[in-house]
Amino acid sequence: MTPDEFRQNGYALIDWITDYIEGIEQFPVSNPTIAPGDVRAMLPPHPPTTTESFSHVLTDLDDIVVPGLTHWQHPSFFAYFPANLSYPSILGELASAGMGVQGMSWVTSPACTEVESLMLDWMQELLGLPERFRSDSEAGGGVIQGSASEATLVAILAARWRITNGAVNADGDTTKLVAYTTAHAHSAIEKGLRIAGVGTDHMRFVPYDSSFAMRPDELSRMISDDRAAGLVPFFVCATRGTTSSTAFDPTPEIAAICRRENVWLHVDGAMSGIAALVPELRWVNDGLELADSYCTNPHKWMGVNFDCDLFWTADRAALLGALSILPPFLRSKALESGAAIDYRDWQVPLGRRFRALKLWFTLRCDGVEGTQAMIREHVRLTQMLAELVEADDRFQIDAPHPLNLLCCSLVAGSAQTDALIEAANNSGHALFTRTVLNDSVSLRFSIGARLTTERHVLAGWQLLQSLA
Ligand SMILES: Cc1ncc(COP(=O)(O)O)c(C=O)c1O
Repeated sequence: MTPDEFRQNGYALIDWITDYIEGIEQFPVSNPTIAPGDVRAMLPPHPPTTTESFSHVLTDLDDIVVPGLTHWQHPSFFAYFPANLSYPSILGELASAGMGVQGMSWVTSPACTEVESLMLDWMQELLGLPERFRSDSEAGGGVIQGSASEATLVAILAARWRITNGAVNADGDTTKLVAYTTAHAHSAIEKGLRIAGVGTDHMRFVPYDSSFAMRPDELSRMISDDRAAGLVPFFVCATRGTTSSTAFDPTPEIAAICRRENVWLHVDGAMSGIAALVPELRWVNDGLELADSYCTNPHKWMGVNFDCDLFWTADRAALLGALSILPPFLRSKALESGAAIDYRDWQVPLGRRFRALKLWFTLRCDGVEGTQAMIREHVRLTQMLAELVEADDRFQIDAPHPLNLLCCSLVAGSAQTDALIEAANNSGHALFTRTVLNDSVSLRFSIGARLTTERHVLAGWQLLQSLA
């Protein structure tokens, strides 16, 4: 492709993207008729031997790819948690691709590192997070990770380094380490522990209360029992907004226990933490003052394209202790001066994209007011939906719903609720996912897509009522 062709095709692609997003309601939210292998069967089995025009590629996007998509940007997408985008964020992705820089070290692209540090500090301010997480604080700092799963993993690795006084980098014994969370925490924690060599048999699921939030008294008891058995408690993950039902583990009480017991506290606010952009919802991040690390995802509810997880720690020495390795080919005067950050030491891979651009573009071109209004509206719609569900005797609400997720089920039972979810999804008019609460199936009505309005929520509810 020549530079002129790139320019021309680029305009065509931007047109295509704009038409896709603005016309998204013409599509079913997901394609219920598609079967595994269908998309591949429409594509040539072997690579092309001659070049093709870009317009043919766009035609295949329309004819083959789009029918095989689940439309996450669709306003009737009520499944999982959202993965929003925004126009400035898309342009940030494009700019990053166009620059094609590797930001692994400060010296490999100083702007890549410095814009990122600044974005983390801007977000610390916007979310009202503790000052000790700032890049210019004495011991803390923030970094963009690809996902909350990666953030959890590096938190576990830092915790493991700290509890072993660094011995884990040599021949330290990690077989006695024990971690704690609830059964409602994200599976990323179990995965991260496994990667860190802490088996599931050393992962404790702390009992939760009637709102599915961790019980601090039980956490305290389990830590004592493990210590009495000669084990070494090292890591607690408290979730602020669980994936199942948006339960909020009581971080202030948990943090006090962790501090007393010298256990690393990671707080996972992947979905709900972003709500703190709205001043009256700042409570979502209560208790972070004593946490060792925290993460939240602008790629869920803030309109910054995936992948953009913000991870902060108050103990960067532990993180660097766990992950910093300095081969001769990566040495630089800037790093040795102590004045530069090499973000490769804050994450698992070496290489890294210029992800901060999409956050920077979004904050500058769309500002936070639009996101604040969207978050407030989604919370309002969820409370409105709850009133409607309560008024229908065939349904019951299964969990507290302080933000934008309503878990509900048919009084008739789990099999009927599963059948309802399947029928609704097969209609193509909306998409829902399920969870299990108190051993019963619950339908998750997650209101977070950027284009969702009252009309879509009402239509989604009427669909459920008509199929119930
Ligand atoms: C509370 C929570 N933690 C972690 C994750 C994992 O997020 P990611 O896809 O960024 O790894 C999710 C995903 O929905 C989540 O809801």
